[in-house]
Formats: sequence, C-alpha cells, structure tokens
Amino acid sequence: MTTTAVLIPGDGIGPEITAATLRVLEAAGAEINWIERQAGVAAMEAGGEVLPEATLDAIREHGVALKGPCTTPVGKGFRSVNVQLRKTFELYAAVRPVRSMPGVDTPFKDVDIVVIRENTESLYSGVENEITPGVVTSIKVATEKGCTRIAEWAFDYARKRGRKKITVFHKANIMKLTDGLFLRCSEDIAKEYDDVEYETAIIDAGCMRLVQNPGQFDMLLLENLYGDVVSDLCAGLVGGLGVVPGANFGVDRAIFEAVHGSAPDIAGQNLANPLALLMSAVMMLNYLADNQGDETAQQAAQRIKAAYDAALTEGQKTRDLGGSLGTTEFADAIIERL
Ligand code: NAI
Repeated sequence: MTTTAVLIPGDGIGPEITAATLRVLEAAGAEINWIERQAGVAAMEAGGEVLPEATLDAIREHGVALKGPCTTPVGKGFRSVNVQLRKTFELYAAVRPVRSMPGVDTPFKDVDIVVIRENTESLYSGVENEITPGVVTSIKVATEKGCTRIAEWAFDYARKRGRKKITVFHKANIMKLTDGLFLRCSEDIAKEYDDVEYETAIIDAGCMRLVQNPGQFDMLLLENLYGDVVSDLCAGLVGGLGVVPGANFGVDRAIFEAVHGSAPDIAGQNLANPLALLMSAVMMLNYLADNQGDETAQQAAQRIKAAYDAALTEGQKTRDLGGSLGTTEFADAIIERL
C-alpha cells in the first residue's frame, strides 16, 4: 500500500537528517509517495513566504507530514513556522516519547516517559505588547476547551497504550487562573478514567523529582511552555536531543518532527544525529498503520526500530552520543542491519 505524505526538509541540519531518514525508510520497504514542500528560512531563500500556501495546501490535502526543524529568529523577525503550523491545523497534542536507548550511557536506566504537551495556547499565543518603552507584557491564554481536549487526549492515549499514571506539572499556586484552569480540567477528565492514576506536582518540585528519579514518572501532561522546556529536560535524561522523536496531532492531521531544532552550530558538516527524525518517521509509520491499516508501514516501523537499536547496541553512534559516525555513516549502519 503506497501512502502519500508531505516532506518538509526544513533548515540547518534539516536537509541532512531528512536525506538520511528517507534512505533508511526506503531500505526498510516503507512505501511512501513523498510530496516535498518548503517551510522556514529555506522557503524564504527560495523566494517565497516563510510558510508558503503550497505547503499548507499539501498538508491540508494529504493530512500527514514529516518535518525537519525550522529556524526561528530570536527576539525579532518572523513568527515561528512551527507555531504557525500547529495553530493553522489545530495540532493541539504534542507527543514526545522519551526512553533509555540501548548502548547510550546515561546516569539513568529504564527511563520510559511519554510527555504530552498542549500545543496551541499558553504564552505561545504570541500576544505581546509594549505598554510604554521599557515595559512589555506577554499574555498567557488558557481556555476550557483547550485544557479539556488535551487532558482527554492524554488520558485516552494512556488507556490505549496501557500506561498507568499521568502527572500534571503546573504552577497554579502562582497562576491561579490559567494554570488553575489547566489543573481543574485535567482533574475533571481524570475522574472519567479510574484505570489511570492521576497526580499533580508544582513544576519546580516536579523537575527536581525528574532529575532525581525519572523512573517514578510514566506520562507527563503539561501546558505549552512547560511542555517545551520539560521535553528537552527529559531528552537530557536519555542521551540528549538526538534520541527524542515527536508528533503533533490534531483531529485529522498529524505532523511528525524531532524535538530538537535546526542546530545551526553543526549544520552542513555531516555531524547531526538523524535518529530523532528517524524515530519520528517510525511514529508516522505506526500512525499510518493504525489509521489507514497500512501493514507495510507497520512492518517497516518494526524493522527500522530493531535495526537502530542493534546499531546503537553495537556501538555504532554519532558524536552527540559519544560515537564517531557522521550522519550518513550512521544511516548506513542502520541500513546494513535491516
Ligand atoms: P537545537 O535543538 O537546534 O540545538 C541545541 C543543541 O543540541 C545544539 O548544540 C545542537 O548542535 C544540538 N543538537 C540538536 N539536534 C541535534 C542532532 N540531531 N544531532 C546532534 N546534535 C544536535 O536548539 P537551538 O540551538 O536552541 O535552536 C536552533 C534553531 O532551531 C532556532 O532557530 C530555534 O527556534 C529552532 N527550533 C526549531 C524547532 C522545530 O523546528 N521544531 C524546535 C526547536 C528549536
């Protein structure tokens, strides 16, 4: 079964890790008809908008995309392409599975946490004002609809995947209205799922517990900004940004992308670890299998996962994981094991 999906290579290390990922998918027998579209700085350099209509149309039509990271200027310039995409398609649920990888040495063993991040609200509303020179504000938005649907999504995910516990990190002691609403909506939904344990933690203490003993957490549910920060913290528990995949889900569309950014410091040098994007592609294959009954996709996903686990176990790693392989050589090592 051939499925059509949109491919956005992105900026910085994006094109390198995308090329490596596509080679592995092809070698594993995944039958994907890729529609390549641009976004981010790459789209601007090609003479278009930062998020061209052709890219949005392709995602609208095909419903599934694999996306490389896109650069966002700091403190000035255009609004994040990632945020725009998530808002345009109401991709309200970001899922980031974080697990200890074979052959990747870290202070923690057996970490297996799924981070669920609300993707459309909070301080990412982009409502910032200059009240008077030297005084600026940023508005944090929380809606009952947004808080309820992400809680429902998380509990539903937990039930389907046999996860046992959801912990909500919040700061409702200070942000009594916005984080208070997030907490209240989560509590309301938790009551409908008596098979999933529910607990809460004030985020500062929660982060301390995470780095002391990550094994006590199963799933984390967070509003947008906390989810962004805590995802990277969790990546650090299992070897860094090179090994954490991600997916953004809406009602009928999904965009799969690594947690990391465009890593301009190592772009174009064959140094980037393509694994996080490859793992995101594996999540995409599993999504296609679940939603479109694509058995070829499921088989390819299983083979790829076994192959990268084997490569890592045998010490075949990129530099960020303490190895010496380049982006293409690591992809070769996976392909050899397929
Ligand atoms: P980053 O994630 O790009 O890099 C942080 C550090 O991790 C760097 O030292 C980088 O070399 C390293 N790193 C990241 N991915 C790696 C990989 N696959 N293999 C090996 N090392 C890797 O974060 P940074 O520097 O804060 O952001 C750079 C740009 O990326 C910014 O413009 C930011 O807005 C954008 N960004 C885009 C995201 C997306 O498209 N989803 C997500 C996060 C950031």
